[in-house]
Amino acid sequence: KTELAIAIDGPAAAGKSTVAKLIAKDLSYIYIDTGAMYRALTYQAINENVDLENERQLRGILEHIEIDLQQSPEGQKVLVNQMDVTHDIRTHQVTNNVSVVAKHPAVREEMVKRQKALALKRGVVMDGRDIGTHVLPDAEVKIFLIASVEERAGRRHKENLEKGFASDLNDLKKEIEKRDQLDSEREASPLLKAEDAIEIDTTSLSIQDVADRILEVVEAVR
Ligand code: C5P
Repeated sequence: KTELAIAIDGPAAAGKSTVAKLIAKDLSYIYIDTGAMYRALTYQAINENVDLENERQLRGILEHIEIDLQQSPEGQKVLVNQMDVTHDIRTHQVTNNVSVVAKHPAVREEMVKRQKALALKRGVVMDGRDIGTHVLPDAEVKIFLIASVEERAGRRHKENLEKGFASDLNDLKKEIEKRDQLDSEREASPLLKAEDAIEIDTTSLSIQDVADRILEVVEAVR
């Protein structure tokens, strides 16, 4: 069977990474979390006290950091210059600032270049905001996942509580809406459904339902 590239895009907390991981496992493909790369840069920029509006300095950071996505038995690990930042890139501070970092064209240009290189070998599932439109416009399968903001905030809230994290449903809703707005309204490769993407509304579907639908599409293509 042919090895494909599968692009999964959609707004924040729509279940992209959970579904992408399931599909990658099922197909024995590599999973690439592009959001983690923008988060890693954001984390590093905050640590280096760089103004997140300063495009030139942010681009400069990318000159001296290597971002590695490693597959490990416990899941994906994210390394910045060999340092494990898997958990550090999921903090509130990073989550609420990443869209500012990700809006800069020079940052996106370099990230897209790195992401394209990671997907040169097919047999990949990549999730993000601009995968179907910019990173892998020739992906054989393109999926656009959506869900109501109530549903997305509710899922994140539940996840947080299960992990024992403090969580406020209303704050989550506002943060998700804010991030979607910034990601959709930026000039450089905004969050957008590719013309040839299949849209799946996951609001009333389970993770497994969504994965099964995507796997059906994959079977039909290969
Ligand atoms: O997917 P995740 O929520 O971790 O992404 C974090 C942020 O990174 C997004 O809100 C967006 O600002 C940025 N991003 C992006 N393009 C991608 C993936 C993520 O701009 N392909």
